[in-house]
Amino acid sequence: MENVGSTESPLLGNHKKSKVISWGKAVFSLLALLTITGLAFGSRKTSWFVTTEQRFNGKAQFDNPEIVESDRGVVAADDGRCSNVGVFMLRQGGHAVDAAVATALCVGVVNPMASGIGGGAFMVVRSASTSEALAFDMRETAPSSASENMYKNDPGAKNLGPLSMGVPGELAGLHEAWKKYGRLSWRILFQPSIQLAKNGFEVLPYLGNDILKHEEKIKADPGLREVFAPNGRLLQTGDICYNVKLADSLQAIAEHGPQAFYNGMVGEKLVRDVREAGGILTMEDLRNYKVKVTDALAVDVMGFELLGMPPPSSGTLGIAMILNILNKYGSANAIKGSLGLHRLIEAMKHMFAIRMNLGDPAFVNVTKYMSDMTSPSFAEEIWHKIYDNTTFPPEYYLSRWSQLQDHGTSHFCIVDAERNAVSVTTTVNYPFGGGVLSPSTGIVLNDEMDDFSTPTEVSPDNLPPAPANFIQPGKRPLSSMTPLVILKDDQLAGVIGGSGGMKIIPAVVQVFLNHFVQGMDPLTAVQSPRVYHELIPNVVSYENVTVIDGEHIELSQEKMAFLEEKGHQLKRIGIGAICQLIVQTFENPVDLGRKTRKNHIGNANIGTLIAVSDPRKDGRPAGI
Ligand SMILES: *[C@@H]1O[C@H](CO)[C@@H](O)[C@H](O)[C@H]1NC(C)=O
Ligand SMILES: *[C@@H]1O[C@H](CO)[C@@H](O)[C@H](O)[C@H]1NC(C)=O
Ligand SMILES: *[C@@H]1O[C@H](CO)[C@@H](O)[C@H](O)[C@H]1NC(C)=O
Repeated sequence: MENVGSTESPLLGNHKKSKVISWGKAVFSLLALLTITGLAFGSRKTSWFVTTEQRFNGKAQFDNPEIVESDRGVVAADDGRCSNVGVFMLRQGGHAVDAAVATALCVGVVNPMASGIGGGAFMVVRSASTSEALAFDMRETAPSSASENMYKNDPGAKNLGPLSMGVPGELAGLHEAWKKYGRLSWRILFQPSIQLAKNGFEVLPYLGNDILKHEEKIKADPGLREVFAPNGRLLQTGDICYNVKLADSLQAIAEHGPQAFYNGMVGEKLVRDVREAGGILTMEDLRNYKVKVTDALAVDVMGFELLGMPPPSSGTLGIAMILNILNKYGSANAIKGSLGLHRLIEAMKHMFAIRMNLGDPAFVNVTKYMSDMTSPSFAEEIWHKIYDNTTFPPEYYLSRWSQLQDHGTSHFCIVDAERNAVSVTTTVNYPFGGGVLSPSTGIVLNDEMDDFSTPTEVSPDNLPPAPANFIQPGKRPLSSMTPLVILKDDQLAGVIGGSGGMKIIPAVVQVFLNHFVQGMDPLTAVQSPRVYHELIPNVVSYENVTVIDGEHIELSQEKMAFLEEKGHQLKRIGIGAICQLIVQTFENPVDLGRKTRKNHIGNANIGTLIAVSDPRKDGRPAGI
């Protein structure tokens, strides 16, 4: 590790915290990176990820670009350019958290439909040297003038338009994590994203498809129109997208710190735009936003320790409950194949039934449900209710409240040379959030208020809305986001998480089981076809889709026939949730050429890292 200085650098502006690792060198390398990628000279077709991949991933042992191996550090984002940005920060001597800040900002620029500084996120950080695991809750909160019945007369305003916006938390949270762990200057973490927004970035298929799918939403808003349909023409895959106002906002936040957003010019412009559009956000709301930092929620199950977010995430608890139930079957074999899939679906249905009792623990007492969802004896009670010969109608699962249908999101995983591990899920909720881009800041407004339940809501499942998740000023809505760090015998075994709203928990649990329990290699574990259930409607959704790179993902006929025989109704879907996965292996089975290493840094054993980005979103991981 290089020197961590705390010199005051004029380049850091008046942002008071300065941690600099040979600043001059970092700037030089950054210029080199931008030059290689064609960014510094504004080359129209940024071939960034092809070139940098050749450069940085030269060691990759795999033909498949969706997987990379390294001893020194990896980033698995859902966009290859952002994985490279993260790896660039690791190469400068950055902590995994430095890479996470830079990667999150990058994803916010190139995947603006799913995330950004106008939204919120969850971050789990596990430090290798101290074994401390922290949960950074940077989720949006209800504005101070929000109220339980605010959508009574206009239910559509809950997910569309400026009233659907929660107070953004992402920047505050990234800064809080960086203050604790960061080694690089705050400023440099922003440079690649500023360049991408200013000089333009190529619209990749996933964004291109979303622009097309949400044409109406984009054309209805002057801000979105200017960025995604300049001169009246909708951007397509392969076009270059510019968001110059966002570049300016990022520049100001890079120089002046998050105060520029929470108590400065960027925030003032944002609030002005939001209020002009008819929203209720105030400067006071921004000033009062508080990141919540707690110990990560730790759950022991199946011989692993899962470190994740406590409520208002239902993710860690949901995964814990499903795994505790499956654990009762006593062996990996019993949860394999078609019967294993039926058992998993039943466990998921029971989990969805109970999770709607959860809410923001600062406002509602969720102690009982937290202990139930993590309790092996509660899992045993549920296990007795699962039958191998049949599935049941929704009433059987004793669901009391209607399900939250959340959306959007982007997930990435990072592990650095010391084996510090970071898992981040970030979101603006619906694609392009509430359908409003603040014209003077370039920021897409989230519509996270839709993740609250409201008393007058009529839901497709005909169940009443969940009171634990009703709106109150300052409250955070329930979430499915499930960023996890996984330990085995106190050593880092993996990092995992996903995007896709209500499909996240089913996806993460399937990828976890595939790799950690069934022993599938990491790429196969992520690629394998998945199933989803929402309890109501009483339908199993199965994947049958040809993804962007031409690969076909389809549940086997045998499994489908088996499920139908048990009474499951099946429905075909395209792409479900997206998962990124990093695993650390101490056996090194994929790299026969290299001599076995028995390295040790601090308390952490150093194994080989393998990172996978989900082919469903055509992401690319990167390694040092
Ligand atoms: C929360 O509920 C639990 C039981 O469900 C109870 O033991 C505890 O005292 C309650 N906590 C508060 C702060 O009310
Ligand atoms: C399933 O098996 C149980 C006994 O294990 C039996 O009572 C029940 O009738 C069976 N249901 C179906 C649909 O076959
Ligand atoms: C899966 O999709 C293919 C076309 O891509 C179709 O021919 C096939 O019938 C589908 N299978 C199922 C089970 O839906």
